[in-house]
Amino acid sequence: MIPTTTLANGTVLPVLGQGTWHIGDDPGRRAEEIATIRAGIERGMTLVDTAEMYGSGRSENLVGEAIAPVREEVFLVDKVLPMNASKRGTIEACQRSLEILGTDFIDLYLLHWPGPHPEEETIEAFEELIDRGLIGAWGVSNFDTDEIAALPARPQVNQILYNPSRRGPEFDLFGVHRRSKPPITTMAYSPIEQGRLLDHSALAEVAGRHEATVAQILLAWAIRSGEVIAIPKASSVAHVHANAEAGDLRLSAEDLADIDAAFPAPASPQPLEIL
Ligand SMILES: NC(=O)c1ccc[n+]([C@@H]2O[C@H](COP(=O)([O-])OP(=O)(O)OC[C@H]3O[C@@H](n4cnc5c(N)ncnc54)[C@H](OP(=O)(O)O)[C@@H]3O)[C@@H](O)[C@H]2O)c1
Repeated sequence: MIPTTTLANGTVLPVLGQGTWHIGDDPGRRAEEIATIRAGIERGMTLVDTAEMYGSGRSENLVGEAIAPVREEVFLVDKVLPMNASKRGTIEACQRSLEILGTDFIDLYLLHWPGPHPEEETIEAFEELIDRGLIGAWGVSNFDTDEIAALPARPQVNQILYNPSRRGPEFDLFGVHRRSKPPITTMAYSPIEQGRLLDHSALAEVAGRHEATVAQILLAWAIRSGEVIAIPKASSVAHVHANAEAGDLRLSAEDLADIDAAFPAPASPQPLEIL
């Protein structure tokens, strides 16, 4: 079973979702990638994350096809490019994305990173999109503590880079999210560090104790508080099944201490990293 968490607006979501950066790039893999997203949804990973940036619409196009038969079961997250995020540009980008996705509704629409347009304008557009029934809620991505503080209204979610090799947000940003009124949910992207931690010996030792894989340990670690949503990207059914099973893994105090020893928690503020 995949545990759930609740957004400030009351929406209950699984703490494991599915990322889709680079999905749809290779036409030869299309059928397998669609089958993968559907298999993830069947296993409870019903949150699917995409962005207009990913393959300039190729990810949205594939995601749209994958989720079409089960649209009502899916919580669809999409992102507007900062350069498009003027008042009018945000509305037009959303309409373009809906067209490519082949759906009439995005559940959560994020500003991909802080950009050139005043956030007041982007948020006005988000509110208008909510009023028009085109999106359900809005949020941000790659916003650091000062950028969250400067926002004129509270986002539901801040999607950020977080895994054992990127623990900076633990020092301050997580607290900012938690203390925000209402609270902001943290969505952790690249929870598997795009594969770069899979051979790490300390993680392999923890994995061995659980008869699990390092990828599963990384996911169990990212969601250990019960408050963070992790969105690993997988492009095979085997990987997505393994990722869903990570929802059942509980790390022990010994596991967490071993991971802390290999990847120390931050002792001072660090600028938010971005991939
Ligand atoms: N907001 C932002 O700025 C931002 C930035 C980066 C990412 N994101 C979002 O976050 C999602 C996840 O991040 P990411 O794609 O950068 O990296 P990631 O999820 O950390 O890592 C993806 C890599 O892990 C592998 N993998 C997945 N499951 C595995 C398993 N069970 N065993 C072994 N390997 C496994 C994948 O291989 P296969 O593909 O072969 O399965 C792929 O090579 C993105 O897809 C995107 O939706 C957002």
